[in-house]
Amino acid sequence: MDPLIRTVAGLREALAPARDAGAAIGLVPTMGALHEGHEALIRRARERDDVVVVSVFVNPLQFDDPTDLAAYPRTLEADVRAAVDAGADWVFAPVVEELHPSPILVSVRVGGVTERLEGAVRPGHFDGVATVVTKLFTVTAPTRAYFGEKDFQQLLVVRRLVAELHLPVEVVAVETVRDPGGLALSSRNRRLSPVGLREARRVAQILARHCASARVGDAAAAFRTRLLADLGGVDLDYVEVAEPPLLEPTRALTPASRVLAAWRVEGVRLIDNRAIGGA
Ligand code: PAJ
Repeated sequence: MDPLIRTVAGLREALAPARDAGAAIGLVPTMGALHEGHEALIRRARERDDVVVVSVFVNPLQFDDPTDLAAYPRTLEADVRAAVDAGADWVFAPVVEELHPSPILVSVRVGGVTERLEGAVRPGHFDGVATVVTKLFTVTAPTRAYFGEKDFQQLLVVRRLVAELHLPVEVVAVETVRDPGGLALSSRNRRLSPVGLREARRVAQILARHCASARVGDAAAAFRTRLLADLGGVDLDYVEVAEPPLLEPTRALTPASRVLAAWRVEGVRLIDNRAIGGA
C-alpha cells in the first residue's frame, strides 16, 4: 500500500479503521528533509502507538523570511522512504492550498512563552507553528504527538496550546539527537563548510560544558556571564537562562532551568538548549 497521503479526506479515510478499533495513533509533525533527529521521534512513536503518521509540510505561515521558505529543502520521495524505514505507517504531505485555504482568516496565537527568545527574533513564527499544529491535530486527531527538545521553546508552545485548548492529545518530548561532535542535528547543518561545522560544534560544546558543571542554586546572571566570556567572538542572537513552562528569566538555577542559545555560523542560524547538569 502507498504510504503517501496528500489530502485531508485521504488521511481521515486511512485512519478510520484504526480509530474505530480504538487503536492509539501517533503523530510526528515535520517539515521534511528528515534526518536522524526526526527518525528518533518516529521510532519513539512506533514503540508506543499502534499507527504512526508522519506529516511532511513546509509551513509557509511560520517563515518570516520568504528566501528562507524558498530555500527550505523539499525531498518528499526520500522523506517517505526514511519515515517508513523508521516505522511510519503513513506519510501525510498536504498541499498548502488545502491546509491553508486562502484567504487565511483563522490564526492560533499562544502568548507569554512566545514573546521571548525565538519569538522576539522571529515575529509571527510561533503563531504560524501554533496554527499549523492545531490543524494537524484536528485532521489527524492523534492519541500522542511527538516533538523534539531540540526546539525547546516550540515544545513549550505546543504544550501550552494543548493544555489551554484542552486538546485530547498527549505531547511527548524526545531528547535532542546530536552528531558525534555534540552539534544538534538539523537540516541546516548541511549548509556549513567543514570549517563552519567545526565552529558550530565548538559553540555547542561550550554550552554543554558550562551546563554540565553548573549547579542548582548558582546565580543565573553569574553563570551567564561566564558562559558569554567563553563565547566571545561568536555571532550570537541570544543566550539566556530561562525557566519552563513560560521561559521566564531565572535568578538562581533550578533543576528545571534551561539554557537556550541561537547563533550564526557562515550565515546559517543555529539553535540549541541544555538543561542544568548536562541533559
Ligand atoms: P522540523 O524542523 O522538521 O522538526 C520536526 C520535529 O523534529 C520537531 O519536533 C523538532 O524539534 C524535531 N527535531 C529536529 N531536529 C531534532 C534533533 N536533532 N533531535 C531531536 N528532535 C529533533 O519543528 C518543525 O519542523 C515545525 O515547526 C513543525 C512542528 C513541524 C510545525 O510546522
